[in-house]
Amino acid sequence: MLKKPLMLICILLTILWVACKQNTKPQNDSEKIVDPHSYAEPEHVKVKHLDLDLDVDFKQQIIKGIAVWTIENPNKYDEIVFDTKGLNIQKIVLDDKTSEEPFYALGDENEIFGQALSIQIAPETKKVSIYYYTNPGAEALQWVAPAQTFGRQSSFLYTQSQAILARTWIPCQDSPSIRFTYNAKVKVPKEFLALMSAENPQKRNSDGIYTFQQKHPIPSYLMALAVGDIRFKKINEMSGVYAEPAMLDKAAHEFADVGKMLSAAESLYGKYLWGRYDILVLPPSFPFGGMENPNLTFATPTVIAGDRSLANLVAHELAHSWSGNLATNATWNDFWLNEGFTMYFERRIIEKLYGKDEADMQEVLGYKDLENGIKDFGKTHPDTRLNLDLTDRSPDDAVTDIAYEKGFLFLKNIELVVGREKFDHFLKQYFAKYAFKSVTLKDFEDELNNNVIKDDENLKTAINAYGWIYQPGIPKNAKLPHSARFDAIDALRSGSIQGQPADKLSRNINSTNEKLYFIQSLPDTISLKQMQYIDSVFHFTTSHNSEIQYAWYLLSIKKDYQPVYSYLDTFLNTVGRRKFIEPLYSELLTTEKGKKMAKDFYEKNRPNYHAVSTRTLDKLFSKK
Ligand code: BES
Ligand code: ZN
Repeated sequence: MLKKPLMLICILLTILWVACKQNTKPQNDSEKIVDPHSYAEPEHVKVKHLDLDLDVDFKQQIIKGIAVWTIENPNKYDEIVFDTKGLNIQKIVLDDKTSEEPFYALGDENEIFGQALSIQIAPETKKVSIYYYTNPGAEALQWVAPAQTFGRQSSFLYTQSQAILARTWIPCQDSPSIRFTYNAKVKVPKEFLALMSAENPQKRNSDGIYTFQQKHPIPSYLMALAVGDIRFKKINEMSGVYAEPAMLDKAAHEFADVGKMLSAAESLYGKYLWGRYDILVLPPSFPFGGMENPNLTFATPTVIAGDRSLANLVAHELAHSWSGNLATNATWNDFWLNEGFTMYFERRIIEKLYGKDEADMQEVLGYKDLENGIKDFGKTHPDTRLNLDLTDRSPDDAVTDIAYEKGFLFLKNIELVVGREKFDHFLKQYFAKYAFKSVTLKDFEDELNNNVIKDDENLKTAINAYGWIYQPGIPKNAKLPHSARFDAIDALRSGSIQGQPADKLSRNINSTNEKLYFIQSLPDTISLKQMQYIDSVFHFTTSHNSEIQYAWYLLSIKKDYQPVYSYLDTFLNTVGRRKFIEPLYSELLTTEKGKKMAKDFYEKNRPNYHAVSTRTLDKLFSKK
């Protein structure tokens, strides 16, 4: 009986408190980073450390969690704000006062950003414990059914937190400008191993309880967890692969150069600061090529080509251990500070290990992607600038070739203007200065001005940072990549393809890069007969190299080249990597016949894709 009036008073007090807090003003506006994708107000109160306790329930497809946040509140504010999306909040405890619950409120739900969780705290509050559980539909999580794994025997769970999905499995201040250390205890079914973006176990234990420690401060988008029938295989003292048993040897063979890559990276830009570097191979539904989770890169099995020809992915994710994981873009508006730097670093590693010809080819292929990307946007489109305005938009809109390849080309052009030695020195000190910190665009501009340009007007004009960062398209004076090896292919292609003897074609077009360049440069006017001839020489339709399959299938859909369709069916049915499947579905949707096929394929495959991919594809299908 007593309960109801008490509850009413509580609700009224909460409303009053929510209304009052609208008036509290930030203290130091000058330092304030405005992150359009987070509700957190770190200039008031921010998190420093997380003790996470998780119970992974495969039957119900939910994670039950207790997130104990150690906080920092120097100006004695009375509220801390977290990001959440689709989380069920059960209970909140401040410090060790388990008896009384603080006032807390969930804000309005936004389809992209989720809900703010505002919790009233005392000036002296040190710890905020949030008891919660996830929804079966939590977007970061994919509960992979046994049939979608390699072994086909047991389920698998993995997370993908970047860019703003950490909030769907952990209540957190979900901004790349906020860092924290973490310890975690994770309970999983006894037959499974659990791994995180932290120091990891190499063996299963008998109780299914695993503990983790990440002693370096990381942003929330690098929180990661994987659970499944996972085994470990050592590559060298520092590195190894984790994968399902059926994948383990293949993966270890594919990534055998990881040690050399790590040495090359360290010789360029300074010591690797994270301890071990391991790679986890995920089921094929993983929506990305790779994800740079600290200590443990998550990788798609679609880079396991058998011949190490797609292992640049490891160079890329490893490079993020500096660009991204040490020096982190402060907001997703400057995603290029993560990815452009990483593309540059990746190609420097590739050049060191495999030579200039190899790096040149990858740069030209990247430039072709950039040209196509800009063409699709239109060359004056604001999203072809490096610095984006993503207010009210999903950070997914930043995941384009602009951030990666225009970002790369900008840095490469600075290198060409100032010389490699100077630029390497600049980058090395930049990573050292911003280690475990976030970088705003202004920070980068200041570094460039103070350490490279130094009031030299000619240099300033030659570098043209303003043009690259704030103007659309590619600056007119840009120096573009060139590959001598590809010139030979251009020469071959200039005549009739069918006029070329098969052995001459296959002699000049040998490596994966060359094949990709060849396919991507075939003219739109190519006839089905020519396609057949090419296929008879190279067997692209039955290739097991995912990049080649993707490029060839895309062209085949455009040309309605029939032999690929059954292979395309299998590809779309097994691979969930968004970079491949979105353009393929999109191309199918351009014709009436293709539309029917696309809809049938998607209906069948949708349950097997990760939410990152279905979000993009649902949008694509809703437009058609
Ligand atoms: N961090 C990205 C993946 C990502 C980007 C996830 C944006 C979520 C939002 C990763 O490092 C990446 O760039 N992966 C590429 C690899 C490639 C460039 C070698 C990919 O997935 O294709
Ligand atoms: Zn990347």
